[in-house]
Amino acid sequence: MFSDYIDIFYMTAAALFIFGLKYMNHPDTARKGNLLSAGAMLMAILVTLLDHEVVSYGMIVAGLVVGGVAGVVWARIVKMTDMPQMVAIFNGFGGLASWLVAYSEISRLTPNLDHFTTVVLVLALLIGGVTFSGSMVAFAKLQGLVGGAPTLFKGQHLLNAILGVVVLALGAVLLASPGAWPLFVLVGLIALLLGVLLTIPIGGADMPVVISLLNSYSGLAVAMTGLVLSSPVLITVGSLVGAAGLILTKVMCDGMNRSLTNVLFGGFGTEAAEPGEVPVAAEGGEGQPKSATVDEAVAMMKAAKSVIIVPGYGLAAAQAQHAVREMGDLLAKNGTTVKYAIHPVAGRMPGHMNVLLAEANVPYPQLFDMDDINDEFEETDLSIVIGANDVVNPAAKTNPSSPIYGMPVLDVEKSKQVIVLKRSMNPGFAGIENELFLMDNTVMVFGDAKETVNGFVTGLAGK
Ligand code: TAP
Repeated sequence: MFSDYIDIFYMTAAALFIFGLKYMNHPDTARKGNLLSAGAMLMAILVTLLDHEVVSYGMIVAGLVVGGVAGVVWARIVKMTDMPQMVAIFNGFGGLASWLVAYSEISRLTPNLDHFTTVVLVLALLIGGVTFSGSMVAFAKLQGLVGGAPTLFKGQHLLNAILGVVVLALGAVLLASPGAWPLFVLVGLIALLLGVLLTIPIGGADMPVVISLLNSYSGLAVAMTGLVLSSPVLITVGSLVGAAGLILTKVMCDGMNRSLTNVLFGGFGTEAAEPGEVPVAAEGGEGQPKSATVDEAVAMMKAAKSVIIVPGYGLAAAQAQHAVREMGDLLAKNGTTVKYAIHPVAGRMPGHMNVLLAEANVPYPQLFDMDDINDEFEETDLSIVIGANDVVNPAAKTNPSSPIYGMPVLDVEKSKQVIVLKRSMNPGFAGIENELFLMDNTVMVFGDAKETVNGFVTGLAGK
């Protein structure tokens, strides 16, 4: 009797996932979207548990306890700057789950496999395997367990192509002889190898884009599993994740003005150099940056009627978000108009700055996307650039030979005065110089962003 209604519950859960995703479109409703999706997932799990096909409740409870505890502990201890690694692991486990489910279905159904199921199982093994091993490589690179530099060797692309063709050929043989299950094992192993080979040539700094792509693959792997198990909820959820991951990948590539092919095969963005000494010789002279003290910067802030704060990766690295909120509050209290300009690829993951500033309770109405605020720099008294570099580099507009030429950037240099906070004159992610730091209207305050902003807070509060 209950089984007659199972699909209705699954479809309801699938619909709730879609609404959840819609709510996640805006920071104001994102929490609601998250809760709705989590509720839908709970409903789908409960319905599955009541299904008559469950073999062992003991195993399920053990899995829930292990997974639940690991999830809670990880979520609590992970640093905001380590979030990309965590997403990589999640994607990887999604791929591994699809890979394992495919094998379980192969052992259950062989040799009674129809053509459709065979094709779907080969795809589930291929996508699941690539997602799992590729995500593990991405995790290892971001975590610093292996070097972040691209690993390239002669004939790499040819080898990948050959392995792809072998998988296709194995799939064709399996269609002709459905009982040849060892070939499925071979497909799964080749998929794991392909995941490694496809990810090692990509530089550590490009990993966020790759992780977003692997996220999309993990969705496809789940959708394949849904087809194998005839589960509409898995097909819907997998397709949503697949599409969302693909859209996110495109947004990131557009934000960097790079094609996906360039990210996957371009070997761009190797490790940035360690911060060096501030060049002090002839400081303030032509072609040299002008540095200011914290007190001088505070005086500039007190005089400004309008301020735009531009956060970047350095703010995340320094964990300066709470100090920045305090600074913004004090400026607003002084009667200054305060706005935050958010570049789509500032930081190292999509929405990085929004998440950090939200964590520090910066009011959402003060946050502006690049396209909405770029025209305002010209009218602004002071821009405060906190640990941002590439996303404020005017070379993207003026220097056709620059690697970032064409990337949309924030028009910070147009504001009347600019204060830049960073530790040295070292470049950012793209590894290129930034003429903004040498401009007449720019002063640099060197040091760790959190310490510097704390100094600003003390100065503004008149402590
Ligand atoms: P970056 O260009 O990487 O510059 C960050 C700056 O922060 C560096 O110049 C560094 O200078 C400074 N910094 C680091 N630690 C600091 C600290 N503790 N205190 C103060 N400053 C510190 O960052 P951005 O402007 O945010 O640009 C992001 C870059 O990442 C873009 O090139 C983008 O294409 C790329 N990227 C982004 C994403 C996403 S989705 N966000 C994904 C992949 C790639 P010092 O070393 O001198 O301190």
